Amino acid sequence: MSRICLCLTGKTLARNLEFLNKYRKHTDLAELRVDCLDPDERFSIRRFPEMAGVPVILTIRRRIDGGRFSGGEGSRITLLSQGLAFAEADRRKNFAYVDLEEDLDVPSLEEAARTFGTRVIRSCHNFEGGDIGAKLSDLRKVGDEIAKLALVPRSIADLIRVYQAAREAGDMDRILLCMGHLGTNTRILASLLGSYLSYAGIKDEEDAECGSPGQLDPRELDELYRFHRIGENTRIFGITGYPLHVTSSPAFFNPLFTQNNIDAVYVPFPSDSLVSFLRLAEEIKLEGASVTVPHKEEIISHLISKSRQVDHIGACNTILRTPSGWTGYNTDARGFSDSLLRFLDRKNLSGQRLTILGAGGAARAVASEVHRLRGQALIVNRTVFKARELARQYGFVWGGFDNQGIALMERYSRIIINTTSAGMTPDSGDDPGELYNFTGKEAVMDLIYTPERTRFLSRAAKAGCRVLNGSDMLIQQAKYQYNLFMGHDFDSEIIAKLGL
Ligand code: ATR
Repeated sequence: MSRICLCLTGKTLARNLEFLNKYRKHTDLAELRVDCLDPDERFSIRRFPEMAGVPVILTIRRRIDGGRFSGGEGSRITLLSQGLAFAEADRRKNFAYVDLEEDLDVPSLEEAARTFGTRVIRSCHNFEGGDIGAKLSDLRKVGDEIAKLALVPRSIADLIRVYQAAREAGDMDRILLCMGHLGTNTRILASLLGSYLSYAGIKDEEDAECGSPGQLDPRELDELYRFHRIGENTRIFGITGYPLHVTSSPAFFNPLFTQNNIDAVYVPFPSDSLVSFLRLAEEIKLEGASVTVPHKEEIISHLISKSRQVDHIGACNTILRTPSGWTGYNTDARGFSDSLLRFLDRKNLSGQRLTILGAGGAARAVASEVHRLRGQALIVNRTVFKARELARQYGFVWGGFDNQGIALMERYSRIIINTTSAGMTPDSGDDPGELYNFTGKEAVMDLIYTPERTRFLSRAAKAGCRVLNGSDMLIQQAKYQYNLFMGHDFDSEIIAKLGL
């Protein structure tokens, strides 16, 4: 099992203590980043381990290693010696660890560390390429040192190499991590990497800018990602997409695992290449994943079997690993219709004339469900031939965003559904139906949920329409995903308890 180490990047020791107290419940040890302290404060670092009350790592990170220390090497070594200097017979008052870079060859520091019971972390922050396993072994000068390798992954291939090396590294004490957005999964799955600890940072604070990209805060790591419960047998699920800067799915699945006492974790895997993601998935034995933009169509060519809905819609948003390969499902479609029917308080769409704006992947799922529920639809799209193609598949009518299309909309206006991406953050000024004037009688659904109300939806609400955004659909589809991941029925009471 790995430990959560809070990186203290505050400007003063008092501020760092505040951060530590804020996250103490979720923190096993702390790293005092002396390079982030105001120069005056650096004279008092020796007091910090006693103030902290948890084991503390003494670190003075140079600029070349991503830190803030701009003084000369002489003054850094002096500071490190002052930090290590033996002050009390009680070892708990000493730094528990000191981070010394691999190229820092100062025997007196190592000797001081040994004498005062401070364990050396031998670190490398600029590893470009080569054999990760061999590098880890080389880093340790003496047996009880902890080798630390931090990589900036250029692609998923680098992540795969890290997980592979970790699998082959045996039980050598090590700290292994990948930085940046791409590497966040290595911070969550530190136990899988056999990493002695995982660094967490302070967030939403002025002092946080000194921290590392890709870091989570200790509470997120511990509570949301169930860090302290991740072990050898933990089942791994996740979400892939690109750029995947924001996803609410981990906040949906992980609390469900906790509530249901399931030893599993759900992790984001931003991936620009599906092929690489699937290789990574094999390496870490990922059991299942949500698949999101832009991979929902491309994933189909990598499946060994797929549900009828995937075939029909031509998009897949859920994959499960089987001994012979990946099986694909589409839960967006049912998520959409569950959400719409609840909104309308209906069991089907029989006798309902509705408009679908858009003719892309999301529109295909929506059209297939409208057809299944016996609704009659008009499909309106910027690129008219795509609207025609989709409409023909189900015997629907079609149009463009022009006077003719808008006139048709007036006849198909009981329910209007926006499936286009127009109006989504950051382009929240866009309105796909701007030529259409709402009468106030329409029920209007927008699949977008950021912003909560698109311009299109605001206009509809202002005209007196009932409106619904896409967040409910997201939850409804995730219920089906959870069901598929777990292989058992979804418990709606749990969702109610979670306030989702
Ligand atoms: P998704 O899988 O989210 O549906 P997609 O398959 O790329 O994504 O489809 C995007 C849809 O939004 C398309 O219908 C697109 O119209 P075009 O087919 O003409 O490209 C529509 N769309 C995107 N931006 C739009 C805009 N600014 N105004 C109107 N429609 C837009």
